[in-house]
Amino acid sequence: AGSYDFLVVANRLPVDRAGDSPDDGWKRSPGGLVTALAPIMEKSDGAWIGWVGSPDEEIEPFEHDGMALVPVGLSASEVELYYEGFSNATLWPLYHDVIAPPEFHRTWWDAYRRINERFALAVLSRAADHATVWVQDYQLQLVPAILRARRPDLRIGFFNHIPFPPPEIFSQLPWRRQVLEGLLGADLVGFQRPNDALNFARAARRYGGAGGKGTNLLVGRGERAVHAEAFPISIDTDRISQLARHPEIQERARQIRHDLGDPKTIMLGVDRLDYTKGIRHRLKAFEELLVDERVKVGEVTLVQVASPSRERVEQYRLLREEVEGTVGRINGAFDTLQHTAVRYLHHNYPVEEMVALYLAADVMLVTALRDGMNLVAKEYVAARYDGSGALVLSEFTGAADQLKQALLINPHDIAGLKEAMVAAINLPPGAASRRMKAMRRQIIVHNVEEWSAAFLNRLSEVTHG
Ligand code: G6P
Repeated sequence: AGSYDFLVVANRLPVDRAGDSPDDGWKRSPGGLVTALAPIMEKSDGAWIGWVGSPDEEIEPFEHDGMALVPVGLSASEVELYYEGFSNATLWPLYHDVIAPPEFHRTWWDAYRRINERFALAVLSRAADHATVWVQDYQLQLVPAILRARRPDLRIGFFNHIPFPPPEIFSQLPWRRQVLEGLLGADLVGFQRPNDALNFARAARRYGGAGGKGTNLLVGRGERAVHAEAFPISIDTDRISQLARHPEIQERARQIRHDLGDPKTIMLGVDRLDYTKGIRHRLKAFEELLVDERVKVGEVTLVQVASPSRERVEQYRLLREEVEGTVGRINGAFDTLQHTAVRYLHHNYPVEEMVALYLAADVMLVTALRDGMNLVAKEYVAARYDGSGALVLSEFTGAADQLKQALLINPHDIAGLKEAMVAAINLPPGAASRRMKAMRRQIIVHNVEEWSAAFLNRLSEVTHG
């Protein structure tokens, strides 16, 4: 046995290269997961195992921010088959309501299996006796069972950050049994929403050989319990809220409004450029509002930040072409020399700039067709410390369970989406503030630290029981 008592395994390490040259070192990547887990890792002698995000790199384990990081290397062809292929062109669309058609290729599956074994081996050689291992997300669903078979002493948790589809859809997967058996290697399988846990439990009984009732599953000859439960993830609410109070960031927010020509209303969308996010639906609704003259260029500007994502996967390329074509068409028709209808930004921004954008935006648009959680919605609420602003939020996000005072919409219903956008623009300050304050209370209590504590407490409960 190795030396770590607590291991996190995720497709990615929580760091990015700080510059273009390897000598520039690393910086902590944005995102809540690492914020929540870094303190736990420091306290409990933990390590994080993951990929550095670029192919063909052999990097020795290193320390960063007081965390031990263990890189797992992937060749260019493994990235293509395991990451772009099986993870993001098979599982991603399959788990998101088949918004894009999932592709099933045996070569991709073979690579997925092989790479899951590689991640598991990296854990096995480093886990102390009775260590706790927390496996993250859909890229690593086979890891729990590989660990269980070799090291029954380990406590194994798995958390799925994305939705788990209904068994009627999941059953399309040619390797459904193997994936379910992989997940059933865990003691606790966590999901974003109660319905995801239920979907998994139904699939596990129907196709994974599990017994038991409800979300309490039994595997083997009925002797080992596996619990499927919901643990909705959140953000580092304090951090975002504090950044939003920072004078420099507030000045930057004013600058942004000024640069956009001081429109009465700024609407904002912030997404990875992904077909699950409903960016096209949002643009369609906005375009129709312009055509109907219910919004006017110069009075209302839509800022759409679309961060580059999975650019070598075909569906992502097609989406980019479509979104950029649509933005060009809308702006061609409605821009004036002075004002733009849609300001489209295909960039990644640091968190400070994101918070300035949240502060500058009167209306936040989250129109995902399916989303495990959607942390952008929670970040917007965290940034609105004075209680102003309006959130239009898709009911098909996990966040809709917690942010009930948002203007909830079905993004497929373009007429309804348009009404909600107009309502958000015209929301009276009193009503806006009542809604925003209620949502803030929710995420101040239910932050990412509470999320990880809840999962890990439950994991130790079910393994000690
Ligand atoms: C989602 C997934 C994560 C993933 C992230 C970014 O939030 O749940 O596992 O890391 O998207 O996608 P990428 O493919 O760039 O890691």
